Amino acid sequence: MKSQYVIAANWKMNMTLEECEEFLDKFKNLLLDIPESKVIFCPPFSALFTMNVLLEGTSYVLGAQNVYWEDKGAFTGEVSAEMLISCNVSHVIIGHSERRQLFGETNETVNKRTMKALSSGLTPIMCIGETIEQRNNDETLAILREQLMVGLNEINSENINKMIFAYEPVWAIGTGERAEPNQIAEAHHAIRNVLTDAGATDAASIPILYGGSVNGNNVKELLKIKEVNGYLIGGASLDAKEFVSIIHQTENHIKE
Ligand code: PGA
Repeated sequence: MKSQYVIAANWKMNMTLEECEEFLDKFKNLLLDIPESKVIFCPPFSALFTMNVLLEGTSYVLGAQNVYWEDKGAFTGEVSAEMLISCNVSHVIIGHSERRQLFGETNETVNKRTMKALSSGLTPIMCIGETIEQRNNDETLAILREQLMVGLNEINSENINKMIFAYEPVWAIGTGERAEPNQIAEAHHAIRNVLTDAGATDAASIPILYGGSVNGNNVKELLKIKEVNGYLIGGASLDAKEFVSIIHQTENHIKE
């Protein structure tokens, strides 16, 4: 039996309350067995409260797509850790490439958000990944190292051991162009080494997810990459049938 996979749905700016309800109806009808994998739903902030109600009594957990580092106050458009926890959120995506590219997120702000999440008891899912220019310039591993070392600055080993990481090459996100297995394996291996350098005492057991055009057709190939401990899934997680197919294939793999 292989260890537990983490399968996280990043719904981005999708899903009204009605759509969440419809999705979960379909999802629960299709996925009858309780999966071994940890399934995390990360809906937009507006749906967290409702999703918590809809997920009650299931083994699925709730994640948010960001968190601010201050406790409260004049920070229009941000959300605090306490607010997330009041919706029963346990995980939070931090530093997604869309936040970095479209909303000015830096390695330093990723670090502040991560520290706040950890001190509040939330599990950060820290996203890192190179652009196509950086890959073409052979800078991938250096970029990953920098994102991790700055993102994890002043975070102790005990806390690093509790985190989840997601390797998401920017050029593979939402493009249908998945990274090649050898590229993924190389990046994941390098990330695990950097985590040790950053202080992780048990880097081998830290989940490192792959993200970028994961779907029901390519998950089998990804399951063969032993460095991959799960997925962060955007587009394909919006379709209940597709998302369940990914979970089923992962579960079958675990049982093999
Ligand atoms: P994608 O998105 O699966 O649509 O490529 C992944 C992500 O952005 O986390």
